[in-house]
Amino acid sequence: MPTVIALVSTKGGVGKTTIAANIAGILAAYGMRVCVIDADIQPSLSKYYPIEERAPRGLTAVVTQGGSVSEDCISRTAIPNLSVVCSDATPDGLLQSWLKDREDRLMILRRAVRSPAMQAFNAIIIDTQGATGELQRTAAMAADVMVSPIKPDVLSANEFSTGTMAMLDELNRLADFGEAFRSGDLYALINAQERNNNARGVTEYIRRSFAGHRKVKVLNTIIPSAAAYTSAATAQIPVHEYDRRSRGQNSAWQTMHHLAWELFPELAEIYVDDIEGDDAKEVAV
Ligand SMILES: Nc1ncnc2c1ncn2[C@@H]1O[C@H](COP(=O)(O)OP(=O)(O)O)[C@@H](O)[C@H]1O
Ligand SMILES: [Mg+2]
Repeated sequence: MPTVIALVSTKGGVGKTTIAANIAGILAAYGMRVCVIDADIQPSLSKYYPIEERAPRGLTAVVTQGGSVSEDCISRTAIPNLSVVCSDATPDGLLQSWLKDREDRLMILRRAVRSPAMQAFNAIIIDTQGATGELQRTAAMAADVMVSPIKPDVLSANEFSTGTMAMLDELNRLADFGEAFRSGDLYALINAQERNNNARGVTEYIRRSFAGHRKVKVLNTIIPSAAAYTSAATAQIPVHEYDRRSRGQNSAWQTMHHLAWELFPELAEIYVDDIEGDDAKEVAV
């Protein structure tokens, strides 16, 4: 079964789409077969990479089919090994009203990632909107792990502690109905850290606040604030690729490898360069 990672946060603009696209990009470069699901009704991950072969359908069909992904919902991007289920919500709000009326809405994306068509992938990355809504909650329930970016400033850290943690608590109450309803663990990921003592102080504060927490782990990887992330998005290529030549400690090349290693320990210390070419190793997940 593919490993499912959902990017969640009740706050917008924290880097969910950027991180979803770039985790997907580096995993694909390792030779993993990756599918991203754009579960934000305002499509942004769908447009992140050029689409080479556009599928006739997308997220709306997945949801209104009751959580089944058919082949005609999966588009192929220009990045090798990387496919995408595009967000295609129509102005009539069909997708949202459909979700609202279904009792099993929380399980829709969990069913989707288990569809036969999705078993061809090693990893599925789900991007969500920065607001609690049915799509974000169903993405959370589909995930093996959730990754929640936090900007290390006081307002964002507070929003994480209240908004995102409240969502997690609410989802965890479903576990009362049985193991099958348990949501995955949540990894907080410090993103866009500025190079100053205040930002570093807030990061330390966040780490202390969650030390020993049962369901939340703050990842060791810190993503600095760097122009490369926006520039790579403009160039429509993964940021590790964009930043390939600068291999300094804080380069996106290094940062994205460290993130991949932390999420997939079996990749640890392997750089995508080590496995590129025709003999790309099958990476076990
Ligand atoms: N580490 C980073 N350094 C610099 N800019 C970043 C970083 N992460 C994200 N950004 C920028 O911040 C903005 C919001 O990011 P985005 O991924 O769209 O957030 P979200 O999906 O959570 O709303 C984008 O312009 C993106 O390029
Ligand atoms: Mg986004």
